[in-house]
Amino acid sequence: MAAQTHSHTHSGSAHTHDGIDWMARLAQLRRADEVDAPAIREVAERLVDRTPPGSTVLDVGSGAGGMSVALVEALSRRGGGTVVLVDATAELLDAAAAAARAAAAEHGDRVAVDTVLADLADEASLARIPKARLVWASHVVHHLPDQQQTLASLAGLLVAGGCLAIAEGGLPMRCLPWDIGLGEPGLQDRLTTAQSFWFNKMRAEMPGSVVMPVGWNLALAEAGLVGVNSFSYLIDRPAPAPEVVRDAVLNWLQWMQQITEDQLSESDADTVRHLIDPADAGYLANRQDVFLLAAHTVHLGWSR
Ligand SMILES: C[S@@+](CC[C@H](N)C(=O)[O-])C[C@H]1O[C@@H](n2cnc3c(N)ncnc32)[C@H](O)[C@@H]1O
Repeated sequence: MAAQTHSHTHSGSAHTHDGIDWMARLAQLRRADEVDAPAIREVAERLVDRTPPGSTVLDVGSGAGGMSVALVEALSRRGGGTVVLVDATAELLDAAAAAARAAAAEHGDRVAVDTVLADLADEASLARIPKARLVWASHVVHHLPDQQQTLASLAGLLVAGGCLAIAEGGLPMRCLPWDIGLGEPGLQDRLTTAQSFWFNKMRAEMPGSVVMPVGWNLALAEAGLVGVNSFSYLIDRPAPAPEVVRDAVLNWLQWMQQITEDQLSESDADTVRHLIDPADAGYLANRQDVFLLAAHTVHLGWSR
C-alpha cells in the first residue's frame, strides 16, 4: 500500500483549554521524544502486536510525534496500516506528521499517515476523526476540562473490539542528585511538590473543569470499556548521560521555573536560576551526574 501524504481538515479551528502555549514547546517535546524513543518503541510494538494487519491507529494529542513515528514503524514491520495524528495545535500537528511521513517513507511506504486538527472537547472536531482499532492518547486527557467525558469520546472512536490506551500517571521524574552542592539538598522533591500544586491549579482554573475523583482504571470502565488493565514503562537514562538527556533535563528545569515560580522559597528559586544559567559554574547541562529516571503508566480498555 502506498502511503497517503495528504493532511486534511486543517480548515477547522481547534484550541486547547489549559492556558499552555503548546506551539512554543515543540523543541522541548522533540527532545523528550528523542530521550524516550527506545522505551516508546517497545510500547508501540506491544500495542500494535495486538492489532490485526492493516489496522487504523490514532495518536491523539500527538505532540511532536515521537509515538506516531514508533506506531508507523511497528505497523510497517507488520505489513502496513494507517496512522492518524490528532492534535489541537496545528504547528505541532504539521511537525509530527512530517516526522511520521519520513518514517513511513523510510520503511517502504507501507503505512498511510493522515492528520486531523481537533479539539477533543468539541463534538464537531470529534466527528471528523476516523474510527480506529487502537487509540493511543498520551498525557493529553488531563489537559481537557472533563476527563471522564474525554475518555467516553475516545472510546467512541474505537471500532468493535478496539483498544483505548492512555498514558497517564506513573512516578514523578527524577534527574538530580540529592545534594547538588548548591542551596539546600532535596531540591528535586520540593520541585515535585510545587509541580503538583501547579497541576491542581491548572486543572482547577480550566474553564468548565470537572473533577474525576477515581483512578484511570475505574474511569475507563465507566467509559464502557472492558478488560481494563495497565502496565508501566521505564525511561532509564543513567549518568553520565548524553547531551540530549542533559538538555532534556535542562528544558524540564526551565519549565519548572516557569510553572513553580510562586511556589519555591527564595533560596530554591535562586538555586534554579544558577542551574539554568549557561554562564554559571553550576550550569545543569554541563553536569556529569545528571540522569533521567521516570515511569509512565499505560491504562488499557477494550470496546465490546
Ligand atoms: C503533554 S503533550 C503530549 C504529547 C505526546 N502525546 C507525549 O506524550 O509526549 C499534550 C498534547 O496534547 C495537545 N492537546 C492539548 N489539549 C488538547 C485538546 N483539547 N485537543 C486535542 N489536543 C490537545 C497539545 O497540543 C499537545 O500536543
